[in-house]
Amino acid sequence: MRAARTGDTFWSVGVRTIIEPFRIKAVEPLALTTRAQREQYLREAGYNLFNLSSSAVTIDLLTDSGTAAMSAAQWSAALSGDESYAGSASYARFERAVKDIFGFAEVIPTHQGRAAERILFGVLCREGHVVPNNTHFDTTRANVEASNAQAIDCVIAEGRDPARYHPFKGNMDLVQLDGLIEKHPEQIPLVLLTITNNSGGGQPVSMENIREVSRRCREHGIPLILDACRFAENAWFIREREHGYAERDLVEIAREMFSYADGCTMSAKKDGLANIGGFIALNDSVVAREARNVLIMTEGFPTYGGLAGRDLDAIAVGLHEALDPDYLRYRITSTRYLGERISREGVPIVQPPGGHAIYIDARGFVEHLSPADLPGQSLACELYLEGGIRSCEIGTVMFGSGLPGDDDFEPAENDLVRLAIPRRVYTQSHIDYVVEVILSVYEKRYQLRPYRFVSAPPVLRHFTACFDPL
Ligand code: F0G
Repeated sequence: MRAARTGDTFWSVGVRTIIEPFRIKAVEPLALTTRAQREQYLREAGYNLFNLSSSAVTIDLLTDSGTAAMSAAQWSAALSGDESYAGSASYARFERAVKDIFGFAEVIPTHQGRAAERILFGVLCREGHVVPNNTHFDTTRANVEASNAQAIDCVIAEGRDPARYHPFKGNMDLVQLDGLIEKHPEQIPLVLLTITNNSGGGQPVSMENIREVSRRCREHGIPLILDACRFAENAWFIREREHGYAERDLVEIAREMFSYADGCTMSAKKDGLANIGGFIALNDSVVAREARNVLIMTEGFPTYGGLAGRDLDAIAVGLHEALDPDYLRYRITSTRYLGERISREGVPIVQPPGGHAIYIDARGFVEHLSPADLPGQSLACELYLEGGIRSCEIGTVMFGSGLPGDDDFEPAENDLVRLAIPRRVYTQSHIDYVVEVILSVYEKRYQLRPYRFVSAPPVLRHFTACFDPL
């Protein structure tokens, strides 16, 4: 059969059904619960989905991080893991895979992405520094700020508006970047670019934009560091959407993206297809030496960095599997299918669908609630009550400040609910189930109730706050 490259058809000309490019060898039961049970579980969890036991969740779309199903090849590589403290063969295989795809000279393993961020920013950033990024993910922002530098988001205007279409909505606004470089010529220790832009809806960054950001950085001697968690999905979007890349190999596209940068931080829990792990990769050997000194103090010896040898081997295989065109076509098509099915029925989502997640615009979905009524929380709770789906509020609960009713209350810019899709875990019929549950909640959207905080910690309140429906 002739394989289809683009358009509606999937694997072969004329066939539209999305099939998983794998068969299943080990299965895990799903919790099938009644509405009465879910009502009880949610009440006991203080209406915070983070407090639910996973055994109470039917389809878990809380995150795509660390939740991938590993392949038989990864499991067999894991069995060959070399657990030596120093000089492990697993590290050599890991380093080879990272160098092959990312092309940087220095490879420093860490236990996950935020450890890479903490170490790198700890070495490079100080008080008075300014760090531009398209959009900082929350741990990235927290680690920039923990080094006393200021984190500034510079995504293009389209990237801030859920409804507006742009093929590369994760692009950096070059005018804003130029302005920052001009205003703070000596105070920018690095420029970050997050591919894909998670906080902006899993939206890709174009090769042209990476090249242009790189050109500016090189002109001013500023290192460009990619936050590369979803680099493979970004490479796929470049191949699908950017002129001149349709026939290019995905590994080549990835190598070209990284060739414009001086290093990256990576969470292998995303496009490493592993359950744990991350790394820093760099060309600058002086910065790498300082990073390794911190690593030894807080993560572990430089040939394991807080990971087991088997984790390093699983990542070495996973990084290449993430660039498999059959896998990426299925992954991106399946995410888009979910987005298109619900938006066709009127559900407002961040457009176009991103790579790893669909973001529902809760303010548009639950029009009768104001941001002070916590529409994202209300919708996320209802998706759980209706069908046992766990999603994540990304809105006033997570990013607002103060409590509704208080003088210092400030809602977030948007109220979104993220449905993040674990890699290779759910089948197309699970996705159809998710579509059905969302549409059934949409039909009775005017019954969704306002929520209020019962308790909230001062920082990162979304993880532990408790709520009540009114
Ligand atoms: N950068 C981005 C863009 C991320 O999405 C994440 C994690 C990190 C850095 C940190 O990596 O979790 O390995 O420490 N994102 C997860 C999420 C948690 O659900 O989006 P980590």
